Amino acid sequence: MAVDTLPFLSAVGIEYPIVQAPMAGGATTPELVVAVSNAGALGSFAAAMLPPSEIIGNVKRIRGLTSRPFNVNLFVLEQPHPTDVELADAQAPHRAALGLNVAATPSKFCKDNQAQMTALLELAPPVVSFTFGLLNAQTVAEFKRMGCRVIGTATTVAEAQAWEASGADFICAQGAEAGAHRGTFLGDFERSCIGLMALIPQVARAVKVPVIAAGGIMDG
Ligand SMILES: Cc1cc2nc3c(=O)[nH]c(=O)nc-3n(C[C@H](O)[C@H](O)[C@H](O)COP(=O)(O)O)c2cc1C
Repeated sequence: MAVDTLPFLSAVGIEYPIVQAPMAGGATTPELVVAVSNAGALGSFAAAMLPPSEIIGNVKRIRGLTSRPFNVNLFVLEQPHPTDVELADAQAPHRAALGLNVAATPSKFCKDNQAQMTALLELAPPVVSFTFGLLNAQTVAEFKRMGCRVIGTATTVAEAQAWEASGADFICAQGAEAGAHRGTFLGDFERSCIGLMALIPQVARAVKVPVIAAGGIMDG
């Protein structure tokens, strides 16, 4: 299948159709993001595990080191409020099997996603990407009004269509081979484990926006 990469390259303003994966947990330092963007591809900063103040600081650092386009990535999360019973049910069998004591309950389970979104909107990086959920059309429109290009991550055709309906500029189609957690948010996780080479043509046929392939693409 011939893939026309020009709409993506010209819309984002990069030379090569390569997106460096956002990887939460510290791997995507500003220096890495800047090196990729300066080389003509799209560097991606993973912001999901950082509070707004650190997102702001890192994006300022990236902006200080490059004038090239870059991407900032967030999760889309409902703020979790698990009950004591749910926590006990989730932990007890594993703790018992491993001979561990009952753990102290964390005071929170993730960063304040809404506060992260607000910070990202104010920062308005050239590209924003999201995984683990779907932004509504109003929020996507707000990012676009701020001048951001929006990438939504999908692991099925239905998720890709949902992101297109919300107004995403591009779909990142994430195959079953993808490293780390996969971004499935609609339907059954097991049934959403579709190999990338099967997923890409299905998604490309189902949506009009350009599609980015993620998962197991590598060589020496
Ligand atoms: C360590 C690690 C952390 C990741 N964290 C994120 C993340 O924060 N946000 C995101 O959208 N994708 C995340 N991903 C998924 C990647 O963006 C990408 O979809 C995936 O790595 C592609 O598959 P590959 O590793 O086979 O190239 C992560 C992947 C890895 C390996």
